[in-house]
Amino acid sequence: MTANLQSPVIHHADNLTDKEFRLFRELIYEQTGISLSEHKRALVYSRLGKRLRFHGLKTYLDYYNYILNKDTTGTELVEMINAITTNKTSFFREDFHFKFLSETLFPALKKNALSHHTKTINIWSAGCSTGEEAYTIAMALSEAFPDNFGWHVKILATDIDTNVLKKAYDGIYPMENADQIPNNLLLKYFHKGRGENNGFFRAADKLRDLITFQQLNLLDTKWHHKQKFDIIFCRNVIIYFDKKTQHELIHRFQDNLVLDGYLMLGHSESLHGQETNLVNLGKNIYQINRTN
Ligand SMILES: C[S@@+](CC[C@H](N)C(=O)[O-])C[C@H]1O[C@@H](n2cnc3c(N)ncnc32)[C@H](O)[C@@H]1O
Repeated sequence: MTANLQSPVIHHADNLTDKEFRLFRELIYEQTGISLSEHKRALVYSRLGKRLRFHGLKTYLDYYNYILNKDTTGTELVEMINAITTNKTSFFREDFHFKFLSETLFPALKKNALSHHTKTINIWSAGCSTGEEAYTIAMALSEAFPDNFGWHVKILATDIDTNVLKKAYDGIYPMENADQIPNNLLLKYFHKGRGENNGFFRAADKLRDLITFQQLNLLDTKWHHKQKFDIIFCRNVIIYFDKKTQHELIHRFQDNLVLDGYLMLGHSESLHGQETNLVNLGKNIYQINRTN
């Protein structure tokens, strides 16, 4: 008799089959709107591989079944989503949007307030990641409206990812990121960490007090805000969505903007070919079309 030299079929965590990849792509799309193309296989493999090993599971299918059938708490679905999101951000990223606030929009609002505009400004950082965008907006607001002078200024900062939101809320950043902030603003609005916080800097309460952080899935059709926004920042978020999801979201943003409100998109995002009620003012600054 010849010995059977064929080794038994062993599943390794480093093997993401076509079926497993498809199942995760569908689940991620359904839960987050993130549309992963075929060439994102390595990303799924590496980011979810960590979760799979964390639970001591052998295959991606085991992990998929664990999320959907075994984990009755729903915690692992949240962790899977946290692992799959891309959170790259920085202070003053695409800084022309903040220049627009400081040099054009805020002066105009101040001027209008003398006649008809209420002294209220609501801004939403949708897909805020670790918070740098919201803190940059808070600096622009604080500079334009020092000590408020009767203005009510508020920022809502939301993200689907609970890990980044926690960091955003804490407002503590590694010292190597400090050079993203002009020195005068760094000194005015941040504290240098001491002792165990050595090597970090923290947003001062005068910035933190302007911001409410909240978990929010942009795909969730139930979100509803009490007030409309003067400006919505949704930068470098819709790039991960397909056209259909983008279209639905943009229309919901429109409904949540004041009559002459603004939507800021990331530099590589565009509404080209989408039917909207927004006019592109350049640099991906969109404003509700007032002539309609
Ligand atoms: C690349 S970051 C952009 C951060 C910041 N807006 C900027 O431009 O620097 C994209 C963020 O969108 C969030 N995101 C992705 N899908 C989302 C969804 N369905 N609902 C809410 N946030 C989502 C991610 O968690 C991530 O933090």
